[in-house]
Amino acid sequence: MDILFAMNGVNTRDWLEALHIALPQARIRTWEPDDVAAADYVLFWKADARALAPRDGLKAIFNMGAGVDALLRAVEERECEVAANVPIVRLEDAGMAQQMVEYAAYCALRFGRRFDEYESHSRQRVWQPLDACRVGDFPIGVLGAGKLGLPVAQTLASLGFPVRIYSRSAKVVEGVTAYAGAACLEAFASGARMLVNLLPNTPETENILDRRLFNAMADKGYVVNLARGSHIVDDDLIAALESGKLARVVLDVFRDEPLAQSHPFWLHDRIDVTPHISARTLIPESVAQVVDKIRRSEQGEKLVCVDLQRGY
Ligand code: NAP
Ligand code: GLV
Repeated sequence: MDILFAMNGVNTRDWLEALHIALPQARIRTWEPDDVAAADYVLFWKADARALAPRDGLKAIFNMGAGVDALLRAVEERECEVAANVPIVRLEDAGMAQQMVEYAAYCALRFGRRFDEYESHSRQRVWQPLDACRVGDFPIGVLGAGKLGLPVAQTLASLGFPVRIYSRSAKVVEGVTAYAGAACLEAFASGARMLVNLLPNTPETENILDRRLFNAMADKGYVVNLARGSHIVDDDLIAALESGKLARVVLDVFRDEPLAQSHPFWLHDRIDVTPHISARTLIPESVAQVVDKIRRSEQGEKLVCVDLQRGY
């Protein structure tokens, strides 16, 4: 079996070592610009779209992350020939859900229990107990109820927060209020103190976190964006912070990454920035998942693949 490794911005040596151990019989090669040779599987992440060229024997392309937007964009922008009718298989959870749960739970507890305000008091040597607060009075909305959004919502609910989810198709989730479809978006956000975004980046979800959504939230709201920078209308976010509609914003993802040194988000005292680390692609879990899917594909099983029409 031939595997073409086309992943950028990763530790190639560690990945290849893990892949060789997990697939000792496979011939694994790293992609070079003129490589159009046969391969059974391509492992792709933020690489040159030419790696996705049609090739003899190609059975599947693995998107080595949860979001497929960069792969789909690479295909569009390069306008090069890309293997048609080959399933694109993405990472599903692969250790990312737990990381997202930790990030979101940290934010929910920090803001729901007003630790952000106590952090500020501590820096100013202010001894001032604030009014008691209950997590039950801190409604949270989670946009996206997929592999990552659903466990986040369920964990926050288990901590006692009133939680609603927003998805495309209708869901029934115990202990969580579910909203589906764009017509429900404002109702979903209505009165929420915190929104956590875990939607995929598609034409339908671009700019979804905008003034209209912030205005639907309760005053002094919190926004935590863990999905993609293009989900947020940056100017609306700054305006909502300035007006006091939003108390604080936590951003892990940005329209252009790395975030430019001159970007106003860095300087804003009520925006916290992390460098796209809310859920890393973990080598052992990801390799195990890819190997399992290759094994099932080799046995003739049809793999769950990305719906190109939906864009996720
Ligand atoms: P997923 O399993 O495909 O779940 C996507 C969810 O979004 C589904 O519940 C889907 O609804 C919903 N959705 C899609 N389009 C929608 C629309 N137009 N309106 C309402 N809901 C919509 O994806 P995932 O694995 O949870 O990953 C989510 C995103 O997280 C990724 O696409 C990626 O951008 C981001 N991510 C970020 C990091 C990071 O480190 N910052 C790491 C990993 C992933 P249905 O259930 O009805 O289909
Ligand atoms: C990371 O952002 C991913 O989509 O896996």
